[in-house]
Amino acid sequence: MFPPDTLRTYELTPEERAVYATLKPERLPEHVAIIMDGNGRWAGHRSLKRFLGHQQGAKSVQLVTETASRIGLPWLTLYAFSLENNLRRPRAEVNFLMRLLRTYLETNLQRMMDNNVRMKYIGRTRELPSEVQDKMHWAEEATARNTGTTLTLALNYGGRSELVDAFRGLAAEIKQGHISPDRITEEDIHRHLYTAHMPDPDLLIRTSGEMRLSNYLLWQVAYTEIFVTDRLWPDFRGIHLLEAIADFQRRERRYGGLGEDSGEVDEEPDRIKLAAS
Ligand code: FPP
Repeated sequence: MFPPDTLRTYELTPEERAVYATLKPERLPEHVAIIMDGNGRWAGHRSLKRFLGHQQGAKSVQLVTETASRIGLPWLTLYAFSLENNLRRPRAEVNFLMRLLRTYLETNLQRMMDNNVRMKYIGRTRELPSEVQDKMHWAEEATARNTGTTLTLALNYGGRSELVDAFRGLAAEIKQGHISPDRITEEDIHRHLYTAHMPDPDLLIRTSGEMRLSNYLLWQVAYTEIFVTDRLWPDFRGIHLLEAIADFQRRERRYGGLGEDSGEVDEEPDRIKLAAS
């Protein structure tokens, strides 16, 4: 969490401030990940072309990021372009998404600076077109010294391919004799993930009602709380992020342990006679 004097909650809209007032600032999530879904449906409902849905979705990215930065959310990670999107979408749509990303980075850089946002990326980004990579590096460099929210865009990202890349890294360490196979720990795997520098997400939001993980951050979401909303991504705003955080704060996280309402603890369970199966 950031020091309270660095928060800019006075910049929230009156509606956002009303929801923020219901939150416990000491229990804000450290890391929120979002599966931004529903751009195509948003456009379809308006008889518009799909690309207009993506364009509107890019506006949501900026507005949600700004709210996150105002409340001092340290990590926001958005699923912007999956490996599967790259392989399975029509070339024209992929090309449009690449052009949109470049334009997005260019036109929003000043707003990122004004909001003290640091940009990072995860995924097989080296497979993206070189002009897109150039723009990505440019935005990452320009924002590298910002100290507020880190906005990570998952680009050409897949959870399984991230694990493949991690295991390749680990295998190389084994080959070099730095680690022995029977001593591999969860921490060793974590070190080789694209997300090694950040905490696991506390909250995963998925828009447009689908109950799937879609190959997103598979290792990292082991204990993450999931919030699914029917709202389509182009209609998602900062206030909806705050509502999802309010819902998150009403939950009890157990990490496999017992909760407050788990029944009486039996001190001598060995004495209980089990029925024959
Ligand atoms: C899902 O909509 C969304 C994506 C394919 C990726 C998200 C892309 C954006 C929000 C736009 C650009 C982002 C940045 C960072 C500039 P969909 O097409 O799967 O929607 P559908 O399921 O309704 O068809």
